[in-house]
Amino acid sequence: MDFGEVVRRRRMVRNYDADRPVPPDVASRLLGYAVHAPSAGFSQGWEFLVLASAPERELFWSATTPPGPESPWLEGMRRAPLIVVPHSHRDAYLDRYAEPDKGWTDRDEARWPVPYWHIDTGMASLLILLGAVDEGLGACFFGIPPSQTSTYREAFGVPDAYVPIGAITIGYRAPDRRSPSLKRGRREAPAVTHYGRWSASSG
Ligand SMILES: Cc1cc2nc3c(=O)[nH]c(=O)nc-3n(C[C@H](O)[C@H](O)[C@H](O)COP(=O)(O)O)c2cc1C
Repeated sequence: MDFGEVVRRRRMVRNYDADRPVPPDVASRLLGYAVHAPSAGFSQGWEFLVLASAPERELFWSATTPPGPESPWLEGMRRAPLIVVPHSHRDAYLDRYAEPDKGWTDRDEARWPVPYWHIDTGMASLLILLGAVDEGLGACFFGIPPSQTSTYREAFGVPDAYVPIGAITIGYRAPDRRSPSLKRGRREAPAVTHYGRWSASSG
């Protein structure tokens, strides 16, 4: 698919055909795209938990869903045959930048303009989202509620050093409801771009 079309077609998909699994070779390709993301100092401080079997996915939803009645959102998301959880690994960056060519041996986090470990893992996640479109799939990046992080970690044995920055459902699309957030409208490029000097934007 043409790159522009992949970008334009990408949208978060929140309902899936539960009877159509994602073929393992397609899933591998998506993870292959993820590790082509850029990373500060080529630190590559990301790790992905892949949940493809029904019991694994069930455990994910039970560990990450706060108590309460099941929502239509959850009903659609639960049908996804594949979940990938991207984790950022701060220590990989602190270790990498303590190497002689970088020299930040104090491992001081104040040196970092923003936490690049989360940025890079987000970039890897975007490649999964775009790759899914290219493969004819739908996908949705969503947050794991902070109240559920520890139950998530316990359920899957994820060490504290790895932070799940969110999770991605992936599968063949089924009809879904547009997110109410989209009513806000897209802020097109002229409205968010400042040329030459910061000024009231033209859009
Ligand atoms: C960091 C991040 C967190 C998000 N969290 C959620 C979420 O928890 N639940 C959800 O349904 N969508 C979530 N989204 C999807 C956004 O709602 C969606 O990207 C936005 O409304 C624009 O729609 P589009 O991606 O379909 O174009 C998240 C997106 C990002 C980038």
